[in-house]
Amino acid sequence: MFEYNIFENHLKSEKFGRHIKYFESTASTNNEAKSRLAQGDCHGHVIVTKNQTNGRGRRNNQWFSVPNKSLTFSIIINQKKIKNKKILSIISAIAIIKAIKKISTVQCLIKWPNDIILNNQKIGGILIEKKLGYMVVGIGINVNEKKSDLTIKIKNTSTSLRINNNSLIKLETLLAYILNELEKYCEIENEYLINKWLAYCCHINKKIKFYENDNMISGIFKGINKNGQGIVNINNKTEFISSGMIEI
Ligand code: BTN
Repeated sequence: MFEYNIFENHLKSEKFGRHIKYFESTASTNNEAKSRLAQGDCHGHVIVTKNQTNGRGRRNNQWFSVPNKSLTFSIIINQKKIKNKKILSIISAIAIIKAIKKISTVQCLIKWPNDIILNNQKIGGILIEKKLGYMVVGIGINVNEKKSDLTIKIKNTSTSLRINNNSLIKLETLLAYILNELEKYCEIENEYLINKWLAYCCHINKKIKFYENDNMISGIFKGINKNGQGIVNINNKTEFISSGMIEI
């Protein structure tokens, strides 16, 4: 059950989330969102479920979630209607961090490009897909899971707000808070956002490893540029990385 009154009481945005479709259960909110794009202007529309059965992560990974405990939703954004489309993944990570801080006082960090990290473990992720001039921003956050809810595969690498705080959070409130922040950041000055992202990044000036054409490369992570690319110093040469995964 989705508590619309709680969601609406906390939503302060103009467009984002003003049209919301809740599913008791669906395979993937990103798939659901993408199937609606041809139906007319859906800028700001949100698809949310409390039971995502086949969630997808980046790099074809599966995204694990627990019914009624994990926050899983997608927001549809018309690329022409926002100022900061190039750094949408950067903005989304900042919006999540700010919203979590507001609801729980917990300070999460970011691992490039947009993994949300708490106590060195992953607590949330973002999958952005483009179709028909829209960007579908899919967000998954571990909120009310207990350690015993996490599958063996992610038990040692993931955490939840409840594991950290020992208290329950209303998924509807957190969703509204994220949408409020996201709408605001879509129009804000680029330099401010890049600086915010850098302040939350947990591996600035640290050694990182990443794969390029099956080769493992290591370098020092120096920050991000105005397009959101990672800046890495490899043997005193500057390289820009655009996607994929890094190890820290
Ligand atoms: C990642 O690999 O870190 C990204 C995970 C993104 C998961 C979310 S949950 C809601 C939306 N629907 C999906 O199928 N995936 C995204």
